[in-house]
Amino acid sequence: MCCQERVTPSDECLASLLGDEVSPIFLALAAMMSAVGAAHAQAPLVLLQQYRCYSCHADDEAKTSPAYVDDTYRGDPQAVGIVAAAISKGIHDTGPWHMPPNRGSDIDAKKIVEYILSLKK
Ligand code: HEC
Repeated sequence: MCCQERVTPSDECLASLLGDEVSPIFLALAAMMSAVGAAHAQAPLVLLQQYRCYSCHADDEAKTSPAYVDDTYRGDPQAVGIVAAAISKGIHDTGPWHMPPNRGSDIDAKKIVEYILSLKK
């Protein structure tokens, strides 16, 4: 039996185990699982909306606040740590406006910064 030899059985293997009449259910399940994967990939965007970061920022356009693509620490190997800490503490830098501290978790802040740094100009 193929399935007993594998840690993760292949699709065909599962389908043969389940039989033809249940394979639509399996397909629906597979579709659901990939939908969950997609939602996971969007998590930083969900966070940016949840924390209302976009009321002051945009990805690629400076509003009252710098555009994310222009992040000062872009290219710095320490960027994730530095910028995530800055988001949690708030930013009082050179600009005319200041950024309030964010009360979200450090993990959220890191995910957000990874997203910001991944933006392409
Ligand atoms: C009330 C408006 C406001 C909100 C809300 C806000 N920011 Fe800011 N942010 C600013 C301002 C203003 C600056 C520039 C501060 C300065 O230069 O003194 C800034 C700077 C930054 C920077 C630094 C850019 C750089 O060059 O390093 C990052 C990153 C950033 N914000 C991310 C976020 C994230 C993530 C959130 C949501 C958790 C957020 N901001 C919410 C106003 C805001």
